[in-house]
Amino acid sequence: MKAIVQDEYGPPHVLSLGEVPIPTPGAGEVLIRVRAAGVDYGVWHAMTGLPLISRLGFGLRRPRNRVLGMDVAGVVESVGANVTEFHPGDEVYGAATGTYAQFVLARPGKLARKPANLSFTEAAAVPVSGVTALRTVGQVAAGEKVLVIGAGGGVGSFATQLAVAGGAHVTAVCSAAKADLVRSLGAQAVIDYTREPLTGTYDLIIDIAGNRSLTVLRGLLAGRGRLVIVGGEGGSRWFGGLGRPLAARLISPFTRQRLDGLIALTRTADLDALRDLIEAGTVRPAVGRTYSLAEAGTAVSDLASGNAPGKLVITVD
Ligand SMILES: NC(=O)c1ccc[n+]([C@@H]2O[C@H](COP(=O)([O-])OP(=O)(O)OC[C@H]3O[C@@H](n4cnc5c(N)ncnc54)[C@H](OP(=O)(O)O)[C@@H]3O)[C@@H](O)[C@H]2O)c1
Repeated sequence: MKAIVQDEYGPPHVLSLGEVPIPTPGAGEVLIRVRAAGVDYGVWHAMTGLPLISRLGFGLRRPRNRVLGMDVAGVVESVGANVTEFHPGDEVYGAATGTYAQFVLARPGKLARKPANLSFTEAAAVPVSGVTALRTVGQVAAGEKVLVIGAGGGVGSFATQLAVAGGAHVTAVCSAAKADLVRSLGAQAVIDYTREPLTGTYDLIIDIAGNRSLTVLRGLLAGRGRLVIVGGEGGSRWFGGLGRPLAARLISPFTRQRLDGLIALTRTADLDALRDLIEAGTVRPAVGRTYSLAEAGTAVSDLASGNAPGKLVITVD
C-alpha cells in the first residue's frame, strides 16, 4: 500500500511517499481502509521528534513508527478475533498511529461510528482536536465569559463552537486573517493579538497557542476563574511547551484560581459525544484546506506556519 514514511526526524523533506505492506490486524485490532486523515500538531511533533523528551514515546534515535498520521476516517476492512464492536463495512472515525496510508490498524477503544452528516474528509478533522476541545470546554456554564487563545486553529475552532453551544460569551483571540472564521463559529468578540493587547476579565481561559506567561494569563482571569493550558509551541528544545502546564498545576493549590494543563487522549466515549453534537448540528469541523496523500509534507508545513485556517485534512484514494 502507499504510505507517507520517514526514517529520520526532521523537517517535512524527511517524509516521502513509499510502499509498505498492508498490516494484518491482531486479535484486538481493527484494519481500516483510510479515506481521510487529519493534520494535527502531534504529527509535527512525531515528524521532528521535538521536543526531545517526546522521543521517549516516538523512538529515541529514529521514529519507531515509520508511517506518520494520527487522525483517521475510513471504512473497516477487517477485524481481529476479539473485536466485537466493529464489523467490515462500518464507517468509523478516531485516532490511530500511521494514518497517512491507504490502510491503518486501530484499537476499538479509540474509534467510533462516523457522524452520519459528515463526509470522510470532514470526519477526519474531528478526533484529536475535537476531543481536546471537548475536554477543555466541558465545564463551561451558561453566561460565563470565555477567552479562547488560538481560536482560529484546529483545537480552537472546536473550542469556540463548544463554548458558544454551552451558552458562554466567547472572545476569540486570533490574527485578522481568521476573524471572519471565528465569528462564523459563533464568537461574539474578537481580539487580533497581532495589533492589540489582550484585555478583559474571564471566567475561563482556554490557552491553545502562543507562550504567554502565567502571570499575564492570570491577570486576565477572574478571582475564581479557570485557566486550561492546552498547547503553545516554543520553549526549550528538550521540554518545548511543557513548562507552563507543569507550573500551572504546581501553583494551582495555592490560589483561588484553578490552573490546569490538559493532555487529552482520544477515546470512544468522547468520539460518541462529539458525534451526537455534530449530528445535532451544534458543532461542525472547519476544514480549511485539503491535500492529497503525496502532499502530506506540504500539509504539515502549512500547519506549522500557523497561517492555515481551521483544520487541514489529507484525503486518501
Ligand atoms: N493538550 C493536548 O492534549 C493537545 C491536543 C491537541 C493539540 N495540542 C496542542 O495545541 C496547540 C495548537 O494545536 P492546533 O492543532 O490547534 O494548532 P493550529 O491549528 O496551528 O492552531 C493554532 C492557532 O493559534 C494561532 N496562533 C499562533 N500564535 C498565536 C499567538 N501568539 N497568540 C494567539 N494565537 C496564536 C494560529 O493562527 P493565527 O496566528 O493566524 O491566529 C493558529 O490558528 C499545539 O501546541 C498542540 O501541540 C494539545
